[in-house]
Amino acid sequence: MALYTRESIERVRDAVDMVELVGARTDLRRVGGSYTGLCPFHEERTPSFSVNAEKKVFYCFGCGESGDAIRFVEATEALDFPAAVEMLADRYGVELRRENEDPRAEQRRRRRERLLALVERAAAYYERYLWESGDARAARDYLSGRGLGEQVLRDFRIGFSPPAWDRVVAAAGRDGYRAEELAAAGLAQPGRNGGFIDRFRGRIMFPLADARGRVLGFGARSLSEAERPKYLNTSENELYHKGRQLFGIHRARGMAAKRGRIVAVEGYTDVLALHQGGITESVAIMGTALTQEQLAELGRAAGTVYLAMDADRSGQEAMLRAARGARERDVELLVAEMPEGTDPAELVSSDGAEAFERLLDGALSVPEFEARRLVASADLRTPHGRDRAIDAARPLVGSAPANSATRDEVVRFLADKLDVEPSFLTTQIEERPIGVADRGADGARRHGAARAPRAGVSRDRDAASRKERTFIAMCLAERRHGREYLSRLDDGHLSSDAMRAVRDHVARHFDDPLVDLPADDPMLSALVTEVALRGEREASSQDALRLTFLELELQRIERELRHATRERDFERQRDLWPAREGVKVQINELMGQTQ
Ligand code: UTP
Ligand code: MN
Repeated sequence: MALYTRESIERVRDAVDMVELVGARTDLRRVGGSYTGLCPFHEERTPSFSVNAEKKVFYCFGCGESGDAIRFVEATEALDFPAAVEMLADRYGVELRRENEDPRAEQRRRRRERLLALVERAAAYYERYLWESGDARAARDYLSGRGLGEQVLRDFRIGFSPPAWDRVVAAAGRDGYRAEELAAAGLAQPGRNGGFIDRFRGRIMFPLADARGRVLGFGARSLSEAERPKYLNTSENELYHKGRQLFGIHRARGMAAKRGRIVAVEGYTDVLALHQGGITESVAIMGTALTQEQLAELGRAAGTVYLAMDADRSGQEAMLRAARGARERDVELLVAEMPEGTDPAELVSSDGAEAFERLLDGALSVPEFEARRLVASADLRTPHGRDRAIDAARPLVGSAPANSATRDEVVRFLADKLDVEPSFLTTQIEERPIGVADRGADGARRHGAARAPRAGVSRDRDAASRKERTFIAMCLAERRHGREYLSRLDDGHLSSDAMRAVRDHVARHFDDPLVDLPADDPMLSALVTEVALRGEREASSQDALRLTFLELELQRIERELRHATRERDFERQRDLWPAREGVKVQINELMGQTQ
């Protein structure tokens, strides 16, 4: 089901000022017909990023990232397509029209919007109260005593809830909100003498926002040891789901996308201290238990996730259990252990952000981290203790990707500590069938060598096919020329047989790709469904389509050139060089650059 009408998405695209939009991320200079600057998608010293203001497309000659304004926002803000459209519509004052919505869905959306507005009002109120009220003096002193400056507190909209019983309830009531709505939004609770009272009273308020910065709930810290719990959080409700929440994601995702990494810590104050210290790609998982939903969210924000864990062991167990989900999601997860008895906030305030950076430099992959934990907790003096450690080590070695540097490292480390031959740890794993060796001590299935390795290679392949999937979705979205562009896609443009099958299916069923999906090929069905849904929801311009095609063409030629070079096929190379130049000239022309 399409969300916004194609026509209104077109109006958003027309309204965008591409130079202003991109210029907010990187300085642009006018050169001939286009604008250039440093690429926001990869680190570079000399500009290879280019914007065509008229055609409203961007292209990086260095890393090949390309697209239109919506794609730019998706990538730099880590938003999905509808969210990127909403952000641009908001920024350039375009009213979005929805594709006809059924009345029940419309009702749900309106209620949700009302609750969001209510929580937003409360956030603004708490925020003002922190800075303006005499009641909040102790809170202000407390925060500055922890080394948190006004800037970071304002950036995160930290607030203070009045100690009185019902300030928020009363004010919202005057503005026409019902008590039931206040309770549903997590702001009120039944009082002892009937009626409703404020849920948060006399606490420092940490707004919990979604990736777009919309406040969904609060974490609220008491000011005194006597007042329990230390943190009172919004309970699970229509808007707020604890398991999905990452504190600070709206302020972290831009930098996370740029740096390609995101740092996850435990607490609210850790995030504030890190942002203040310049590590602005940091978020909190709000306690020790990392959920699969949070992990998915972290993976969306960046390819590499750093987990900064407490030295305390009970916390680590829960964290590592969840961390095993990272490999299914193609996320690179690295674990950094905090020194005993400190958290990131304390570390940053006593030794500076560099100390925390050094800690991240020493982060380990999950198997390496677990190997060190295993050795530290094993009793290596008795034969029995060693046998048990070896038993635990085998599935651990099996959990590292086969033939990877990580596996080598883990094997070498464990063999050395457990005093056995490295081959003793590896051979048995590789020979045992999956399902026997791959049951860890906790009974959960681990990944053995019998399973296809998912690290390295598959990640690269994933990145390659991302552009191909985007292109096919764009063909479906740009209906006027899409069919013709799709027909230009030959086998050499596609990185796998799976993607070739997707192209064939979509070409055959261009008007409705979701029909005739093969029941016996779930992989193909999933890929087709993804591009079809994106094609339906999204919209593309002909220029963006052409640019992406040229980029795929360039990739194809470069792949062939590498092949020809390996084979010492000079004739083929001689044919390919001018072809490559030809594509580059076309890209240059499209970007308004003549070189
Ligand atoms: P910590 O107890 O380490 O809190 O819990 P903290 O962030 O360091 O707080 P300060 O420094 O004492 O002010 C880590 C995180 O676990 C969640 C919060 O998100 C907290 O930031 N937590 C902790 C709760 O939700 N409730 C609690 O009662 C305690
Ligand atoms: Mn802490």
